[in-house]
Amino acid sequence: MTFNSLSPSPTSLPAWHELLDLKESILEQNILELFNRNPSRCKQLSIQHDELFLDYSKNLVDGQVMTSLLALANQSALSAHTEAMFAGELVNTTEQRAALHPALRGKAEDNYTLNGMPVHEQVELALSQVSAISDQIRDGKWLGTTGKAMTDIIHLGVGGSELGPRMACQALQAYAHPDIKMHFVSNADGAEILSTLKGLNPETTLIIIASKSFTTEETMLNAQSALNWLEAALGLSHVQSSTHVIGITANRENALAFGIDPSQILEFQEWVGGRYSLWSSIGLSIAICIGYTNFESMLSGAREMDIHFKTTPFERNMPVILALLGIWYSNFLNAQTVAVIPYCERLTLLPDYLQQLDMESNGKSVSLNDEPLDYSTAPILWGQTGTDGQHAFFQLLHQGSHLVPLDFIAAVNDPLSNEKHHNFLLNNLLAQTSALMIGQGDEGRAAHKIYPGNKPSNTLLMNELSPKNFGALVALVALYEHKVFVQGSIWNINSYDQWGVELGKQMTRKLLSDDSALIKAFDPSTQQLSEYIHQNTLPSSE
Ligand code: F6P
Repeated sequence: MTFNSLSPSPTSLPAWHELLDLKESILEQNILELFNRNPSRCKQLSIQHDELFLDYSKNLVDGQVMTSLLALANQSALSAHTEAMFAGELVNTTEQRAALHPALRGKAEDNYTLNGMPVHEQVELALSQVSAISDQIRDGKWLGTTGKAMTDIIHLGVGGSELGPRMACQALQAYAHPDIKMHFVSNADGAEILSTLKGLNPETTLIIIASKSFTTEETMLNAQSALNWLEAALGLSHVQSSTHVIGITANRENALAFGIDPSQILEFQEWVGGRYSLWSSIGLSIAICIGYTNFESMLSGAREMDIHFKTTPFERNMPVILALLGIWYSNFLNAQTVAVIPYCERLTLLPDYLQQLDMESNGKSVSLNDEPLDYSTAPILWGQTGTDGQHAFFQLLHQGSHLVPLDFIAAVNDPLSNEKHHNFLLNNLLAQTSALMIGQGDEGRAAHKIYPGNKPSNTLLMNELSPKNFGALVALVALYEHKVFVQGSIWNINSYDQWGVELGKQMTRKLLSDDSALIKAFDPSTQQLSEYIHQNTLPSSE
């Protein structure tokens, strides 16, 4: 049996029709009323996993809706899909690849296999390289060509090859090495890489080129600029093979062809999707920043979420519950977007990270069998940290015309803050979730002072933003990884490919070719804009 033959269309399932029937009546319900009707609601609609607490009681759902959502999960191929994914089957059907990222944080006893062969040894080998190299760099034993230890690490990559490490290093800055500064450059915008290089000492700078394919054009462009800078400053002719350059890739051949020294190529496998690669050798920068032991804690926090997802009945399973609530709002209550609001400035990149994870995975319009869908899939995911967001888009959340289900996230303890600030921050979160739900009625007020309320949200609390909880948070990433998987499974789509990004890449190549025949094949607007840029480009100062 193949992965795609397992799946029914969700719209063919009885539970889908039950949910359609429940839609009208739920829109007449008031969430606050639902608390009054069921005194155990809070308790029933909350889940504790390890040091992560989810309260989903402020959602526009009652017992009947939850029963039908769980029935939808049961009637779908979710259990079979989950088994297939954890068994290393080719769940990425268009590329004929497995999606075994949980194996990256697995232990030997988890017995992850691919084609019947255990993968743990491969994982261990990669991790031992990450451990050895990160230790040497952190201990000042990884020396540049002039014999000096590294003080600055520039991680070059884009999407899954950069966002995860950048987010983790930012989130876990309390654990960062005091004498090593991490820099991340992803954008092809030259101002980023050139301004990063300015002011750094090439003798003590290490460039990490992270790319699964080792062909991604913006990463290669940034890498070339960084290498030119190193080469000129150090007077070396083949700097890419020096100790100033490390390559991380699933395509060793390409990294070798690029000229990186074989001992400085860290590998991961094709079965690790780019946006799921934070846990692989791609995480080297995290290990350099917070130390390998802390990196390992992250892995074990995420592993606990894998176990939770694999073994917990759907009704107590955090990823499943979050996924079902998401489906309820998108497919039945017509929400077009969802927002993630972390009340922690160090998680400012979390919405960006989850955006790639969710929208690149589930922004699809064809089924696993390559047939067009007649229902919506991933909503638009966006967000910003609180309290800043409160002074920007919260107006729309409270009084605007769109339904935006929200995920609020916070750490109960923050060793980097103090009681006064943290208390203020957390109480803002609580006040917002409550105000959104309760609203403020008419009672003789002018219309602009009325808050309709009944706006749903989830609240996720971690005990503290430590590597393990970050793993549990990235088990909010692992949690969101599985949530995305559950939704993809019920929507009957391939969550692991990303064909939608290819066309734009091909067209960029055509425009860059300077081949007038290729450019003339573009639409009139694009030709006009290309011409305008051409005519108004100032002579380069280089
Ligand atoms: O363009 C999309 C994408 O392929 C992402 O899925 C991936 O994370 C990113 O580009 C970077 O790819 P690579 O790691 O191969 O450089």
